[in-house]
Amino acid sequence: MTDQTKSPVTRPIVFSGAQPTGQLTIGNYFGALQHWVATQEANDCLFCIVDLHALTVRQNPAELRQRCLELAALYLACGLDPQRSILFIQSHVPAHTELAWLLNTFTQIGELERMTQFKDKAQRHKHNVNAGLFTYPVLMAADILLYGTHKVPVGEDQKQHLELTRDVAVRFNNLYGEVFQIPEPLIAAEGARVKDLQEPTKKMSKSAESELARVMILDPPKEILKKFKKAVTDSLAQIRFDEAGQPGVTNLLDLWCVATGRPRAEALEHFGHNLYGKLKVETAEAVIAQLEPVQQRYQALIDDRAELTKILEEGAARARARAEPVMRKTMSALGLPLDRGRFP
Ligand code: TRP
Repeated sequence: MTDQTKSPVTRPIVFSGAQPTGQLTIGNYFGALQHWVATQEANDCLFCIVDLHALTVRQNPAELRQRCLELAALYLACGLDPQRSILFIQSHVPAHTELAWLLNTFTQIGELERMTQFKDKAQRHKHNVNAGLFTYPVLMAADILLYGTHKVPVGEDQKQHLELTRDVAVRFNNLYGEVFQIPEPLIAAEGARVKDLQEPTKKMSKSAESELARVMILDPPKEILKKFKKAVTDSLAQIRFDEAGQPGVTNLLDLWCVATGRPRAEALEHFGHNLYGKLKVETAEAVIAQLEPVQQRYQALIDDRAELTKILEEGAARARARAEPVMRKTMSALGLPLDRGRFP
């Protein structure tokens, strides 16, 4: 049986979420999005834009709405396929917050206090350390557990939240039987960790201080070329993979490899004894070539709001239907009336 003919229920369920904040970099593209796209082949995937999580810091309402649409358009442009996968906005599926409440009562304050992301964010947003920030991981656990998720593609920074999700699910199951599937993390393979163009020992981040440090998926080609030309390298004048000694050059070489799909050996052969100029320009060109079709599709989608809205509405309807059985099982386990107020 090929993957295409397997019914969705027999494929592993993959769930991932991302906040509709900021733009996405080529680090997100090569490091995460391309993996998500590939994951669709053999898995039953749900991709969720977690607007409720974003509310843990103050948002401008119009901007939040716009960014949800933009992120959806970007996902689709990168190759998330709404026929095969479910793409939806978290707030469109009320079961996320319903389950989050129930899971709150199975999560200890001490556990949440140990979350490093909470500690960081509480430091950075001292004026607004709200309860939502504190229980953020519980909503994330609800996102994941609602769909019987087997695998969760996450970055290192989310591993602790996934551990908590597993602990809460196991705790619940120990009390009430096998209600929740216990999810596993899916940490992306190495190699695609794109570095900051100005400080190449750091990961490329969308919040880097210098604009030159990061390349956005939607940057115009001219801008991309400029950023690569100004990328920090070194004065060793040799083309080698040496992450410790030549992090800038190594990052450019790695990017050229992921953007062209060629192996490291070929990169060395190709750039040989050239100076860094060729490496910078050709890496930029390879990245631009990858992004151009994505940018075109993005523009078409963002200009067709009716189509975009339709895709998201359909995604939400499918997600709501998928969430229903787990929600019913959970409520039933806890002794909550199943028909939501309609007693027989
Ligand atoms: N907390 C994640 C982040 O900041 C986003 C997220 C929310 C998520 N719910 C999720 C990721 C469920 C994976 C699965 O990146």
